[in-house]
Amino acid sequence: MKVLTTIQQVRDFVQAARARQLSVGLVPTMGNLHEGHYSLIRAAAKECGCVVVSVFVNPTQFGPNEDYATYPRTPEQDLAGCQAGGAAAVFMPSVEEMYPRGQTLATVSIASLGDNLCGASRSGHFTGVCTVVSKLFNIVRCDKAFFGMKDFQQLTIIRRMVDDLNFPIEIVPCPTVREPDGLAMSSRNSKLSKEDRAQAPALHASLELAREMILEGVRDSRAIIEAIAAKIAAQAPGGAIDYVKVVHPDTLKDVQVPDGPVLVALAVRFQGARLIDNILVDAAAKAS
Ligand code: PAJ
Repeated sequence: MKVLTTIQQVRDFVQAARARQLSVGLVPTMGNLHEGHYSLIRAAAKECGCVVVSVFVNPTQFGPNEDYATYPRTPEQDLAGCQAGGAAAVFMPSVEEMYPRGQTLATVSIASLGDNLCGASRSGHFTGVCTVVSKLFNIVRCDKAFFGMKDFQQLTIIRRMVDDLNFPIEIVPCPTVREPDGLAMSSRNSKLSKEDRAQAPALHASLELAREMILEGVRDSRAIIEAIAAKIAAQAPGGAIDYVKVVHPDTLKDVQVPDGPVLVALAVRFQGARLIDNILVDAAAKAS
């Protein structure tokens, strides 16, 4: 496995892979890799002859009061995991390599899809994400790129960006990988206190409750949101709800009466970290 730090090295590496007729898959990450990331790398290795993993904590997607400085960085461990997962190369650029003139003048933003859910409280976040992912797509020029459904709004926005801007890239969604107690794996879980870590599985449990309610015929999003909020208040008192929403999975707009496929999504702030999670439910399906 090659460790690449410059854009030119990536271009040369991918060109050589193409000369060998290999298809190229990209897994963009911010490092501190866990099983969720490795599931993406393994999915990419199954579908593509050459897998490039990028590890870059992207400053432009963090707000001024967010955790850029303290975001966990574990490059040695990440390299070992990428190798085990079947990556052919890891792209680990410096901030100067990606942003030689500081912030780019050109940015990529997705209007309405970025307003709801995390976009409402993280102004500029998705512009930072779309801009760095566009740069990575232009640098690697992959055939396929792999994204986790845990960050469902990000996945939806990237899909729309690729479609609107005609990137010749297939976006492959990958299911959320969870801890045995249901907590969605995240690099930020390690920043939780012991008490908050013990309470955090309530997020997924409350989403499962929402699933049951919808499948049993509840058609009032307000009642579902209230039930989730009550469960989190009871089981995770250390967490403050940022949002709980029932939205359409494509438009990400609020749905008042869930009667087809819906995304139930939430964000909860604990002292050490803000956690997000979601589930897709088809309200038209019958309870099993
Ligand atoms: P990061 O949070 O490191 O996540 C990288 C990829 O791993 C994303 O596609 C994310 O959805 C996926 N992922 C994270 N946790 C997961 C889990 N528990 N199960 C399945 N997939 C999971 O998302 C980013 O980085 C950045 O915004 C990035 C796209 C790299 C742009 O900077």
